[in-house]
Amino acid sequence: MIKVGVIGYGYWGPQIVRNFAAVPGCQVVAICDLDEERRERARQAYPNVEIMSDPAGMVSAAGVDVIAVVTPVWSHFELAKAALENGKHIFVEKPFTATAEQAEQLIDLAAKKNLQIMVDHTFLFTGAVKKIRQLVDEGVLGSLYYYDSTRVNLGLFQHDVNVVWDLAPHDLSIMDHLIGAKPEAVIATGQTHLNGFEDVAYLTIYFNTKVIAHINVNWLSPVKVRTTLLGGEKKMLVWNDLAPDEKIKVYDKGVDVTPGPGVHDLLVSYRSGDMWAPKIEQTEALAAETRHFIDCVSRGVKPLNDGESGLRVVRILEAADESLKHRGKAVEI
Ligand SMILES: NC(=O)c1ccc[n+]([C@@H]2O[C@H](COP(=O)([O-])OP(=O)(O)OC[C@H]3O[C@@H](n4cnc5c(N)ncnc54)[C@H](O)[C@@H]3O)[C@@H](O)[C@H]2O)c1
Repeated sequence: MIKVGVIGYGYWGPQIVRNFAAVPGCQVVAICDLDEERRERARQAYPNVEIMSDPAGMVSAAGVDVIAVVTPVWSHFELAKAALENGKHIFVEKPFTATAEQAEQLIDLAAKKNLQIMVDHTFLFTGAVKKIRQLVDEGVLGSLYYYDSTRVNLGLFQHDVNVVWDLAPHDLSIMDHLIGAKPEAVIATGQTHLNGFEDVAYLTIYFNTKVIAHINVNWLSPVKVRTTLLGGEKKMLVWNDLAPDEKIKVYDKGVDVTPGPGVHDLLVSYRSGDMWAPKIEQTEALAAETRHFIDCVSRGVKPLNDGESGLRVVRILEAADESLKHRGKAVEI
């Protein structure tokens, strides 16, 4: 039985507790939050689980194998470091840490102590991303041209990070998983309107291949949009994560350019074939993710979304902040 302690029982913490509690071979033994109201909520929901107010007591508690850190990003590093120092495996919310240097320290520490890190890149475990990955791996889309995502809604305003650190980690982790290329430079533009943090931002990411990515994140949108286009040489797809069904549509559309009769002639032909909506798995992503982590901990292997994947995302976030400061200067990663 792998015993889990969860730190942070705010908006996302209850999802993490519920999912770890449902994994066979795993037991949530303690929940910790600084806030009494949240502790009371946890007590009501889990009367048999120990509810704690002191995170230092939690990270050093005997009989806890895994610590899940579900607190704001500025607190991830100290809590995760203390947990590793006390011999616990760690599950850390996205974004992994507030700086790349902190992420590197945690990865080193975990390696020295032979402990596992999982960073909660939830989307990797959705049926939609699994299906897209399969289409990419099987070569259905052909070599990729672009990843273009719109992730906008009204709020929830965060008090400690800008909209890039709040929403873009989802796209950055999905891209890290789908695009088999190295990000080389970031251009980020954005603006602050209400609380001093950018609430509207646009990121462009250049890779070492010809694939290019654009991400639009916004807390000031009147409507919620979660739409991603993935363009490939052979096929293109549209993923609307808010669609109740047929979330992914694959289009047999494209452009072929061939040399014409003259030296400077090009023949451009447009391909417009069928569209189909592949079937996607319906399981809850967090359920699959927590099960994967418990399996990795018990077998002593690295999860898909390990510390390194968390670090790759944080590196892009740091570069984006630097670019934002200079109104869209290209920042090499
Ligand atoms: N993977 C996802 O899809 C997803 C979704 C939402 C939030 N998140 C991430 O989850 C984390 C938490 O976000 P949230 O929206 O739940 O925030 P929140 O503010 O609603 O909750 C955080 C909780 O942590 C508690 N807390 C803060 N510092 C603490 C400490 N040192 N010790 C014990 N308790 C402490 C607070 O009292 C609060 O109850 C963030 O990193 C966020 O990015 C991830």
